[in-house]
Amino acid sequence: MKFENVEKRFGDNVVLKDLNFEVAKGDRVTLIGPSGSGKTTILRLVMTLEELSGGYIYVDGEPLTHEVRNGKRVELGEKAQKQIRKRIGMVFQQFNLFPNMSVLENIIEAPVHVLGQSKEQATARAMELLESVGLPDKADAHPLELSGGQQQRVAIARALAMDPEILLLDEVTSALDPEIVGEVLGILRHIADTTDITMLIVTHEMQFARDVSNRVMMFDGGKVVEEATPEVMFTNPQHERTQSFLQAVLGNGEDQTGTR
Ligand SMILES: Nc1ncnc2c1ncn2[C@@H]1O[C@H](COP(=O)(O)OP(=O)(O)O)[C@@H](O)[C@H]1O
Ligand SMILES: [Mg+2]
Repeated sequence: MKFENVEKRFGDNVVLKDLNFEVAKGDRVTLIGPSGSGKTTILRLVMTLEELSGGYIYVDGEPLTHEVRNGKRVELGEKAQKQIRKRIGMVFQQFNLFPNMSVLENIIEAPVHVLGQSKEQATARAMELLESVGLPDKADAHPLELSGGQQQRVAIARALAMDPEILLLDEVTSALDPEIVGEVLGILRHIADTTDITMLIVTHEMQFARDVSNRVMMFDGGKVVEEATPEVMFTNPQHERTQSFLQAVLGNGEDQTGTR
């Protein structure tokens, strides 16, 4: 995946300006940075939930929403956008399950309607995924009958049901009770260990970031301030902005890099 001169404005607010970075296939990249630095916006752009104001995003060399044609920046047709969007999955802080559908219906919705799988095929895969996230008996439950941790596990299963090449994780444990965080992170660790899905991860769980990612990017004001391996980023950050940010996040006597 590649960001090329990406710009994102909300009205007069320029959130991302001339942003350039590449993510190789199978990379696990953690994005860190203060609130409002544009991390969620980056993920939402990849998920095509926000429209690019300028520049290009490529997935595996293919344009996501815009491309250069005859020297001009043009938007891809709806069909082409839909095609490439299938390859990307996202899990949100607030789960975002469809409340009016059962767990099973949530998971098979996109495989059936977007990928054209048969209901039987999608259901078989959904049951496998529910098993793998430890909820084989919740297929017929409705999301609001589940705890936050269970809902988030369903949301992870729903994202995986599309067999994504890229998985976007936006603070997926931030809305969970502390004692539930570990089980959700455990599932994500397992996915990281057993697949080659490219992951873009926004998290405050620095130990998780350290375990799972091979790159960490520090953002501030919509720009990459610093990029390093987790080892370097969390023990010897070079940039003053990163140092003060990590001190604030890891400080206060509470050791968030400690094992849970
Ligand atoms: N839908 C929106 N409308 C207007 N401004 C937005 C919207 N989404 C995000 N922003 C603004 O974009 C900036 C970056 O936000 P965000 O990407 O959510 O940051 P982060 O996830 O790093 O906290 C903030 O200034 C925020 O107010
Ligand atoms: Mg955010």
